[in-house]
Amino acid sequence: MASEPRRARPVVGPGWKQTVPLPSHVRLVWHASEPFPRDVPIGEFYADLVFPGPAGGLPYLVANMVMTQNGEAAVGGKAAVIGTRVDGLALTRLRVATDVVLTGIGTVLAEDVTAVLSESEAARRAAAGRSPRLTVAVLASRLAWPADFLSRRLFTDPRFERLIIAGDRPPDVPETARRIAGLGIEVVRVRTGADGRPDPAAALGVLAARGARSVVTEGGPHVLASFVRARLLREYFLTTAPFVVGSDNGLRPMAGDVDGPVFLSRTSRIEHRFMDPATGASLVEAFERLRVVYPEASPAPGSKP
Ligand SMILES: NC(=O)c1ccc[n+]([C@@H]2O[C@H](COP(=O)([O-])OP(=O)(O)OC[C@H]3O[C@@H](n4cnc5c(N)ncnc54)[C@H](OP(=O)(O)O)[C@@H]3O)[C@@H](O)[C@H]2O)c1
Repeated sequence: MASEPRRARPVVGPGWKQTVPLPSHVRLVWHASEPFPRDVPIGEFYADLVFPGPAGGLPYLVANMVMTQNGEAAVGGKAAVIGTRVDGLALTRLRVATDVVLTGIGTVLAEDVTAVLSESEAARRAAAGRSPRLTVAVLASRLAWPADFLSRRLFTDPRFERLIIAGDRPPDVPETARRIAGLGIEVVRVRTGADGRPDPAAALGVLAARGARSVVTEGGPHVLASFVRARLLREYFLTTAPFVVGSDNGLRPMAGDVDGPVFLSRTSRIEHRFMDPATGASLVEAFERLRVVYPEASPAPGSKP
């Protein structure tokens, strides 16, 4: 009797992540100023990131996003399933190298966002003069969330700090506001922009006033687009996963008008080459570090026309 054909195991999702071990090296395949190609021990991958300080009184803002090969920023409503452990490491290294993690309420509603660092990561932050504990700033127009939402780890885990930056045009849902107050979470109001949402510069201003010199936004796509539209994003760390899923209503990493074109000037490209254990497929996950260039800005002194 013919055996049943084996069903393909999904290549996407936490299960897949577990089957792809952390490699000993990744490969620097291009760099704007350093020698390449060369292997980079995994311990050194994005381990020496140092960002410039504030510009114009606002923290230096970088973004980290992951997408599939055709630009899907979520699969089954989640982004955390797209990247491998190396992508997770990139995210952690950016958290270590910046003062505050910024995220939008849409991401927090979709994902189990937490910001716990290991002892060695906390020590790295402290050695660089940063608080060993992360602060997560959540951007939301108003306080009006599902009843059980505030029991999530993002709002209750004592191992990191949190702050809500909301617009100045409530109405809030009284029960949500009451529970936030009960948890002792600070809410800072900022002016609302033309789109009815917290103004991106005002939100960064809140973090600057608390001493933040650099901030990483982990999205989501609507928040990221608003910071690009406001000409505030300085660098973009983009992971591209080696698969497509495909959908009629896919979400892109920047969702919304960015008043473009906006140029992404590559600083480096690092590859994680691996084999899918189930199919034997040879795959490459790519990590690009991109400088964001706004064409209307004045050219850098001495640059060629
Ligand atoms: N691929 C990735 O790397 C990645 C990263 C993060 C998230 N995601 C995915 O993205 C999806 C969520 O997308 P999203 O775009 O809704 O997430 P989001 O950008 O985190 O949240 C958007 C929401 O934030 C609030 N907001 C507050 N201030 C804002 C501002 N200045 N600009 C824009 N929005 C502001 C708005 O909600 P209110 O007006 O209701 O307050 C808005 O609807 C999830 O599926 C998640 O998995 C992917």
